[in-house]
Amino acid sequence: MESHLHYPTDKPVIDLAAIVAAVNPERLANDLATVAKMGGRSDGGVARLALDDNDTRARLWLIEQASALGAKASVDAIGNVFLDVPGSDPALEPVVTGSHLDSQPAGGKYDGALGVLAGLEALRALNDIGFTPRRPLSLVSWTNEEGARFSPGTSGSAVFCGVRSLDETRLIEDSDGVCLGSALDTCLAELDAAGVPRRPLATPMYAFLELHIEQGPILERAGAAVGVVEGIQGVSWFEVTITGSANHAGTTPRAMRRDAFEGACALATALREAARDDEDRVRFTIGKFTVSPGSVNTIPDHVSFSIDLRHPEALTLKALEAEFNKLAQQNWAGCRATLTPLSRVEPVAFPETLTTLLDDAAQELDISAPHLVSGAFHDAIHLANHCPTAMLFVPCRDGLSHHPDEHTELADAVAGTQLLAASLASLTR
Ligand code: HGY
Ligand code: MN
Ligand code: MN
Repeated sequence: MESHLHYPTDKPVIDLAAIVAAVNPERLANDLATVAKMGGRSDGGVARLALDDNDTRARLWLIEQASALGAKASVDAIGNVFLDVPGSDPALEPVVTGSHLDSQPAGGKYDGALGVLAGLEALRALNDIGFTPRRPLSLVSWTNEEGARFSPGTSGSAVFCGVRSLDETRLIEDSDGVCLGSALDTCLAELDAAGVPRRPLATPMYAFLELHIEQGPILERAGAAVGVVEGIQGVSWFEVTITGSANHAGTTPRAMRRDAFEGACALATALREAARDDEDRVRFTIGKFTVSPGSVNTIPDHVSFSIDLRHPEALTLKALEAEFNKLAQQNWAGCRATLTPLSRVEPVAFPETLTTLLDDAAQELDISAPHLVSGAFHDAIHLANHCPTAMLFVPCRDGLSHHPDEHTELADAVAGTQLLAASLASLTR
């Protein structure tokens, strides 16, 4: 492993003005519009679920961009797609940038896609000005970051980094009973047919930079076009089930009922109350709720719901999980409850050496880039334990994301791309 992140100052001076001028707003806007059509919704949003046909089409489109970059495309066993630009010193570990192309079911055009396309535009701009990186420079698109179809999310980066096993990840099923492994094999077969070579998992990296929309209100309120991300808060996902007894809606007296929906509502309220903090730093969300047998005139006997719990401090997450376990053991309207942890990812802090490099590049580009912590998780949360990692954010209108109206101004996307390109040049020279 190389001694990381020393930036020798005797390297060739980088022509920042040329890089900034080479980032092409129209090209970036066209790419965003092209990819947005892959799974485009009639309301202007995007539904490009992990490993569905549109996700595969987007990967094949990305791979087609490689040759114009002088890059070589490859794919690993979990479907992460890499475009590798050779460096003048191929023995050195690469600098990598990228994000994800899968979306939420009613998602926006920018979540994930902007990070991949800004990375593509940065590599194109560097290629256009004839910049030859000393270190290899790669663009990556990670598989199943969202976790909306196959839960939990960040499968591609977690398996790449060895945080989760490929075999167990392949067994995850979607709501139609399709397992990730078979959807992955269908996708990989198309990439194989396109002649895309395979590559190993866990390849070493000198540094990883991810550009992403903030998905919150901070940068827009600050009037900033770009932000330097210091870290990502921790996230735990759970499934809660409540089991009661089904019976006739008309004949069963209240005293005889074990109504799973009544129990689920009471438990959900109690969990939300347990998570309520005065500082409004805990993020507690129940996003999925299923009631069965789902008949108007039958008392439900089985309810399940999801919990997405987040906080910047690991200890608080652990304390809340203990609290939730105690609540789940109580009696809820005569029903039994279970609380099953689905995933937990600890908070990460990015190394100052890398955030300072981003600060310096922002200063040289005369871009004011405040620091912030990410409320959303990203693939960078796993890469942070694989190599020095940091992120750049650009604002999204009204802080809205995971919504068809998600929007980022092109000028902000371009400013973020310029800073990304300058930072990549600085890291690879
Ligand atoms: O849920 C998240 O934080 C990410 O946007 N998938
Ligand atoms: Mn994302
Ligand atoms: Mn997302």
